[in-house]
Amino acid sequence: MMRAAVLRGVRDLVIEQRPVPRAGAGEVLVRVSAVGVCGSDVHYYEHGRIGDFVVEAPMVLGHESSGVIVSVGGGVSPDRVGERVSIEPGVPDLTCEQCLAGRYNLCPAMRFYATPPIDGSLAEFVVVHAAFAHTVPDSMSDDAAALLEPLSVGVWANRRAGTTAGSRVLITGAGPVGLVAAQCAIAFGATEVVVADINPHRLALALELGATGVIRVDETPISDSGLEPTILLECSGHPGSTRDGILAVARAGRVVLVGMGGDELALPLSHVQNREIEVTGTFRYANTWPTAIALAASGRVDVDRLVTGHFPLDRTEDALAAGKLDPTSVKAVINPAS
Ligand SMILES: NC(=O)c1ccc[n+]([C@@H]2O[C@H](COP(=O)([O-])OP(=O)(O)OC[C@H]3O[C@@H](n4cnc5c(N)ncnc54)[C@H](O)[C@@H]3O)[C@@H](O)[C@H]2O)c1
Ligand SMILES: [Zn+2]
Repeated sequence: MMRAAVLRGVRDLVIEQRPVPRAGAGEVLVRVSAVGVCGSDVHYYEHGRIGDFVVEAPMVLGHESSGVIVSVGGGVSPDRVGERVSIEPGVPDLTCEQCLAGRYNLCPAMRFYATPPIDGSLAEFVVVHAAFAHTVPDSMSDDAAALLEPLSVGVWANRRAGTTAGSRVLITGAGPVGLVAAQCAIAFGATEVVVADINPHRLALALELGATGVIRVDETPISDSGLEPTILLECSGHPGSTRDGILAVARAGRVVLVGMGGDELALPLSHVQNREIEVTGTFRYANTWPTAIALAASGRVDVDRLVTGHFPLDRTEDALAAGKLDPTSVKAVINPAS
C-alpha cells in the first residue's frame, strides 16, 4: 500500500492508503520525490472545479512531479529502473488529428494528472507512459526536475510568441509561470524583459532572475512606463493588466494569453486591429521537456530559486495554503516520501 493526498470535496482532503499501482504495458512506475503545488491544485481544493472540470469523485491532486523509476511494464527496457525522471503529466492518445499534427497538447482525449477524473501524482508512487517520464541529469535537483512542468509552460509561451534575439518582452504576472516565462524569454534572446505585478517580493525575485525591469502596476500604470514591447506574455489572468499590456504592444506585435482569469475578457480591439497585433491563447505545452531540461541543466533558467517551502505529504493542506498566507511564498513543494 502507499499514501496519497486525495481531494474528496471542497476543502476536504485526506491522506489515504491506496494500493501501489502497477506499470502496464509501455508504462513505468515512479517513486515520487517532489511535487510542486500549482494554482490549479489550490483551486480544486478551494472550489472543487475549474471551469468545466468538476471534481465529482475523489481525486489525487498534483501534477508537477519528479521521481525515480522503480519498475517497468511490458515493452519498456528494464535498464530504466533507477533512472531519475521528470514526469510530463499529460498523456495524449497519440493517434488523433491533433496528435498526428504534432499538437498533442490539443488532443481531445488527453489524460492529464489531477484534472478530473484523472488522479494526480501527490502519492508515494505513480505510473506514467514511459515516453512521458523524461530522464534528468544527476546534477538536477528533485525540485527542479518537478518544476520542469511549469517551466514548460514558459517555454511554450515563448515559442508561441516567437521570442528571439532582440525581442522586447513584457510579462504581466510574476507568479511561478511569469517568472519562468521571463527567464525563458532571456534564454530565447530577448534583450528587454520587463515584469509587471502588484507583489513587490515577486518583482524583486524577477530582477534577481534577470529581468531588465519591473513595474508595480498598483503604483505605476503600464501606460506610464514608456514601454513598447514587441511581445506580451500575459501570465496574471488579471483583466486590467491584460488590457493595459495589450495597449502597450508595438505594431505587428504578439500577445500570448497564458493566464486564466475568467471565461470572458474585454480586449482593446481597435488597438489590436490598427496595429495588426496577433493574439493567441496557450494550452499547456507540447514537446517542451527536452528544451526545459537543457535550460535548467545548463543553468540558463533557475527553477530551484522559485521554491519557498518544503512539506511532507501529511502537511499537503499547509502546502496548499502557503500562497494565500504568505506574500513571500512563490512555490511550495511536497515530498511524498517524507
Ligand atoms: N495556459 C496554460 O496552459 C496555463 C498553464 C499554467 C498556468 N496557467 C495560468 O497562468 C497564470 C499564472 O500562473 P501562476 O502559477 O504563476 O499563478 P499565480 O497566481 O502565482 O501568479 C499570478 C500573479 O499575478 C499577479 N497579479 C495579480 N494582479 C495583477 C495585476 N493587476 N497585474 C499584474 N499582475 C497581477 C499576482 O500577484 C501573482 O504574482 C494563472 O492564471 C494560471 O491559471 C495557464
Ligand atoms: Zn490525440
